[in-house]
Amino acid sequence: MLNDTLTEALNEQMNYEFYSAHVYLAIAGYCAGESLDGFANFFTVQAEEEKFHAMKIFKYINDRGKKVSLSGMDTPQNHYRSILDAFEHAFKHEQEVTNRIYHLSDLALNDREHATMQFLKWFIDEQVEEEAMFDSIINKLKRIDQDSNAFFMLDAEFAQRSFTPPTAE
Ligand code: FEO
Repeated sequence: MLNDTLTEALNEQMNYEFYSAHVYLAIAGYCAGESLDGFANFFTVQAEEEKFHAMKIFKYINDRGKKVSLSGMDTPQNHYRSILDAFEHAFKHEQEVTNRIYHLSDLALNDREHATMQFLKWFIDEQVEEEAMFDSIINKLKRIDQDSNAFFMLDAEFAQRSFTPPTAE
């Protein structure tokens, strides 16, 4: 059975995932304002992914017979110096998410809450992928530097990104 501390921590993480969606939607808004529709699409899809993460925890809390509790959220950053700045912000945000997931996992481990440890494994793997994705895009953007053709090609590539909910839960 989930104890109150772990239930509260899961609720906190669920709320942070919803906040992550907010952070990425704000970046999408910045990109759209710069007429970079592909980058805007990339971050809109990222926001969808974050909502999916939040709902996965929402469902888990319910499945374990506990109550979901939504909270308010901070105002995300809406202005950036450049696309690179926005991606660096996103990368830092993901590193913070990873820290929080690890903390949650430590709590589950201390509690010998094996079901929650198993549940969190999906998030641990997901964080490896998300950090790697942002790191790789940052490296590309740095290499592209002033090459506007390469930059617009990346924008066109990101226009193709779409959200497909993972089938394996
Ligand atoms: Fe849900 Fe991007 O971490």
